[in-house]
Amino acid sequence: MSKKKVLVTGGLGFIGSHTVVALQEDGYEVVIIDNLSNSSLDVLGGITQITGITPQFDNIDLRDKSLVKNFFEKYTDIDGIIHFAASKAVGESVNKPLLYYENNISSLVYLLQELYKKDYASFIFSSSCTVYGQADELPITEDAPVKKAESPYGNTKQIGEEIILDTCKTKPDFKAISLRYFNPIGAHPSAEIGELPIGVPQNLVPFITQTAIGKRKELSVFGDDYPTPDGTAIRDYIHVMDLAEAHVHALKRLLEGKEKENYEVFNLGTGKGNSVLEVIKSFEKVAGEKLAYKIVGRREGDITAAYADTTKANEELNWKASRSLDEALESAWKWQKVVQKKEKEDN
Ligand code: WQD
Repeated sequence: MSKKKVLVTGGLGFIGSHTVVALQEDGYEVVIIDNLSNSSLDVLGGITQITGITPQFDNIDLRDKSLVKNFFEKYTDIDGIIHFAASKAVGESVNKPLLYYENNISSLVYLLQELYKKDYASFIFSSSCTVYGQADELPITEDAPVKKAESPYGNTKQIGEEIILDTCKTKPDFKAISLRYFNPIGAHPSAEIGELPIGVPQNLVPFITQTAIGKRKELSVFGDDYPTPDGTAIRDYIHVMDLAEAHVHALKRLLEGKEKENYEVFNLGTGKGNSVLEVIKSFEKVAGEKLAYKIVGRREGDITAAYADTTKANEELNWKASRSLDEALESAWKWQKVVQKKEKEDN
């Protein structure tokens, strides 16, 4: 039987590349669209090193409606789509809202318009727990109210989900799943692929590993006056490989017609919350060295705590995160050392 063909937009990005590996290892043929705005062609080599299969790659900017149309005229046999391609820096989105609304919304609409022409579609959307804001109850279920987004980035995820829902309502064979990620961290255990933040990392774990490697002087811990056991904010840190595998389960659910409704939402987390200080402690343990950090004021827009109720994904997707915080941090640290070695070789 021929392999099912899956389009992964943003497939050279952090979560996208790990998902491509998981798809290939599960027997799917993968086609990647990426405009390389937040990734590099080296990632294609990394994927090939891991799986031995080089995915088809088209360098396309999804903001160009005619290029999107041409792509679907060229590839008429796409069975499913996983849509990662989007700008994702929360802080940047506050300063450049129009860039975020254009990139994250128009590219989604152009993709959906092409899919809508087909008899059926299986579409997986990369969403975020940021849609919940500070949830009233923890752990957070999919029924928790979606709150006014704290940033244009978060708003594009909320709007994206609504656009998809409205599209699914008009066409029963148009099937979609939104996956609301908690905090993805870590790297593939081979250290062939991982997170490649551009400039100063906004997220905790890449800042930790860059501090430990000597690229940053010290980590600033944004606030220790939160109403949490140790005063620092709590998040649900999920290994990127667990997250990648969840995408394969979600796609399979749609391709096998196992969905309960033609639009569904799933939280993807571990179900466990860890504070910033607990992450630091875990990193120091796996790295075998102390981390330089200082406590500073809270970061604007940060919430106190968020961690997932994973019951729905566990039961409906037959998926459960299996990797520990230590394992995720160990993989992030191994990857950081590889990145530094490559940077030294290139200079
Ligand atoms: C985690 C914790 C910080 C950096 C963001 C996006 C979310 C998703 C994941 C895309 C917080 C603290 C951080 C630092 C720190 N991205 N921190 N010092 O903010 O939970 O979520 O990334 O989908 O949409 O909002 O992740 O890693 O930035 O922060 O103390 O230098 O680490 O205050 O408590 P966040 P994060």
